[in-house]
Amino acid sequence: MHSHSGSDGLGTLVIAVDGSAGSGKSSTSRGVAERLGLRYLDTGAMYRAVTWHLLTRGVDLDDAEAVADCAAEAEIVSGTDALTPTITLGGVDVSVQIRSDETMAAVSQVSAVPRVRQQLRDLQRSIIGPGGIVVEGRDIGTVVAPEAGLKIYLMADPSARATRRAAELTDLHEREVAAVQADLLRRDRFDSTRAASPLSAAGDAVVLDSTYLSLEQVIGEIVTLARERASR
Ligand code: DC
Repeated sequence: MHSHSGSDGLGTLVIAVDGSAGSGKSSTSRGVAERLGLRYLDTGAMYRAVTWHLLTRGVDLDDAEAVADCAAEAEIVSGTDALTPTITLGGVDVSVQIRSDETMAAVSQVSAVPRVRQQLRDLQRSIIGPGGIVVEGRDIGTVVAPEAGLKIYLMADPSARATRRAAELTDLHEREVAAVQADLLRRDRFDSTRAASPLSAAGDAVVLDSTYLSLEQVIGEIVTLARERASR
């Protein structure tokens, strides 16, 4: 019998996309969500928004207690439309501020604080709700949504990642690719070695190396896997 289990399956499917900075996670995740008509959640933007909140409040980032207390007051709302994802802090659009150098330099330290992670994890789980969503981050398949129906771990060579990230930044700053690469590696090292849910591939994740693949190829690969999982 031919049922509608395929589309029903997609409607409740959670696709976790984890990986390091510059692996192509954001463009890939958005593209997959658009192709499949799913919602999209950028959890990195949430960590960045909390970080921006702390910076505007002048909190000492070395004081984990103060960081967690102040973070708890951050009112973060993530819009999950894949075509126009939004992020607001206290009702104000902070999509530009969260990409600033200041935020970038501080976000790893803030995201290493266990209470901050717990706060955002709860918020992320409430947004994921019944599913039908692509969620990108560092610990989605391992911690936030360990029961996700499809887990992808995206990788790419550091030089390919740095070139991509630098291209994203050109209209903001003139930055050397080498400097971008150094910054990516610094963040990766920090994100991968922290005690609280470090960046790592879930045991049941599909590892995709995007170094020699186009964005369309990576999206196509994940869309195929998602349709398979959804029709099981
Ligand atoms: O994906 P991104 O570069 O926007 O993420 C910004 C930072 O947030 C990243 O350095 C680590 C942190 N992060 C995290 O710890 N856990 C997540 N699920 C997503 C991001």
